[in-house]
Amino acid sequence: MKIFLLSILTSIFALSFFLFQDKNDYQDPKLVESMERGSEIYSDFCVTCHLPNGEGAGGTFPPLAGADYLMENREASIRGVKYGQQQEIVVNGETYTTAMPNPRLEDEEIADVMNYILNSWGNASEDIVTLEEVEGITEE
Ligand code: HEC
Repeated sequence: MKIFLLSILTSIFALSFFLFQDKNDYQDPKLVESMERGSEIYSDFCVTCHLPNGEGAGGTFPPLAGADYLMENREASIRGVKYGQQQEIVVNGETYTTAMPNPRLEDEEIADVMNYILNSWGNASEDIVTLEEVEGITEE
């Protein structure tokens, strides 16, 4: 009986391991969950300026989709979302000077929305943005 139970437990363990592996091969489940939450935050706090597909609006609101600034300046991008920003920045060769007001999000929400914009519309980032990373970024 003990052996029988043990083999059942072993198969359950093996099965869950395979299921988990399978999901993991596709995309980190943690990232997927964070992006799902981030997508809602995006619709509530970002979409009015950066638009539904992150395309931005010519000359006033910079794009996030395929944006070299976002993809190459991870820390500055998180800082901008955390504190708001107004400085001259160049995104994909175009200069922007309009202010982005502080959206006043929780650090956890910032991590989620960053994971969403870093991995949507063709953007892809290898490292997941964590709460600790956002907490560590201070205003300049
Ligand atoms: C009121 C309009 C507005 C809203 C709302 C807004 N932004 Fe922005 N965003 C801007 C502007 C304008 C800039 C450029 C700021 C500058 O020139 O310093 C910018 C810049 C950025 C950048 C860096 C530049 C780039 O395109 O890579 C990121 C990243 C970004 N915003 C993300 C967000 C996220 C995420 C949200 C929602 C939480 C958000 N923004 C909400 C207007 C907005």
